[in-house]
Amino acid sequence: MGSRERIKKGFSKLLKEEKLKTIANYFENPGEVISLLKSYWHSDSKQQQLFDEFSENTITNFFIPYGISPNVMINGKNYIVPMVIEESSVVAAASAAAKFWGERGGFHAEVVDVRKVGQVHFGWKGPMAQLTPLFPALKERLLNDTETITANMKKRGGGILDIQLLDYTDRLPDYYQLRVEFNTCDSMGANFINTVLEQFGHSLHDFFAQRLDLPEELRQTEIIMTILSNNTPDCRVKVWVECPVEQLEGIDEHLSGPDYALKFKKAVDIAHIDIDRATTHNKGIYNGIDAVVIATGNDFRAVEAAGHTYASRRGRYESLSTVTINDGIFRFELEVPMALGTVGGLTSLHPLAKKSLELLGNPTAAELMTIAATMGLANNFSAVRSLTTKGIQAGHMKMHLNNILNQLHASEDEKQKAHEFFKDQTVSYAAVEKYLDSIRK
Ligand code: MEV
Repeated sequence: MGSRERIKKGFSKLLKEEKLKTIANYFENPGEVISLLKSYWHSDSKQQQLFDEFSENTITNFFIPYGISPNVMINGKNYIVPMVIEESSVVAAASAAAKFWGERGGFHAEVVDVRKVGQVHFGWKGPMAQLTPLFPALKERLLNDTETITANMKKRGGGILDIQLLDYTDRLPDYYQLRVEFNTCDSMGANFINTVLEQFGHSLHDFFAQRLDLPEELRQTEIIMTILSNNTPDCRVKVWVECPVEQLEGIDEHLSGPDYALKFKKAVDIAHIDIDRATTHNKGIYNGIDAVVIATGNDFRAVEAAGHTYASRRGRYESLSTVTINDGIFRFELEVPMALGTVGGLTSLHPLAKKSLELLGNPTAAELMTIAATMGLANNFSAVRSLTTKGIQAGHMKMHLNNILNQLHASEDEKQKAHEFFKDQTVSYAAVEKYLDSIRK
């Protein structure tokens, strides 16, 4: 690919139509590109404006399928789960697992805790021994100065839970940190946490500046940065399924239920000892989680970042799910951190996110954690089940057949014939192309 000519300064200041034209000029047929990109604009200009304002330099919308996994039983409650994902088979896999476990008591879920973390990173030139006695007064000042910011959150049962002073000077000269724990109730809480932390930064600076009893040098602090942490190990949810091993009979035509349970466990155990497998295994978990996180207008990058950190908590990256077999009971469990919101942010702005939450019965953030994690476990179960039996390609390529047929501009009639033909044939791009050529001749 050759280098592209630079776009002139001031692109962000252009009108949307002008941006579109500028970009279209990078294509062979600008007119066609403009029509195509415009065809993805919302027909209602008010609605489109909403999307334009989510992010900068928007020239069109990028569609991703919005699917449904029906009848997911979690803690005895039935959910119709919206999933936004482009990858074939994910919704089908989640739905198949939901059906399988629905007949075996459903999914069980428990929110472990909902604590979130924020940090004030600062520099101070004195020793920890001199800082420690000042901390109670500093803490009081921080809490007082943020009272107006936290008042509403407190009314809802949340707010600041704890402030710790951490000494990192042995690793980085003069570097200290305030580690703050929050409960942000039903909001993801990024704005709330960051607003509190920025105020903490100002208050911390002023606190030292006003301590005339300290030598001049110690009255100065450097507020390096204040920001929430996406590492949320204490905002965590646990989901599991369990059944007598005999109830796994029939999954593999050659293995009994108890033997299949052992094989499934081996496949999950491999993801505990081998990071190459662990990465793929956990990716399969996030197929399900992300789809719900996106459908409900939450931040999937934050959720994934926390998950991968959590997967490394023992010093090596490993599977987020585990299998145990005790006294003939097969138990498949997933424990993941997950910072979600059901109020505020995109959850209330994006019209489809709002509808997703409505479809889920307007859950609390904690309940949504259980739903998203369940879809992670459901997808993980289906993936490992396929991998340990017939392999994933059979199901995957059947779904993918449609994509290939569309790429090759197959007509409805050709699609029907191809589906019939590939019922007992291996699907590949080349094979489909060859088949279409043969029937087009
Ligand atoms: C594909 O998106 C996900 C899988 O690779 C997950 C896995 O291997 O467990 C099927």
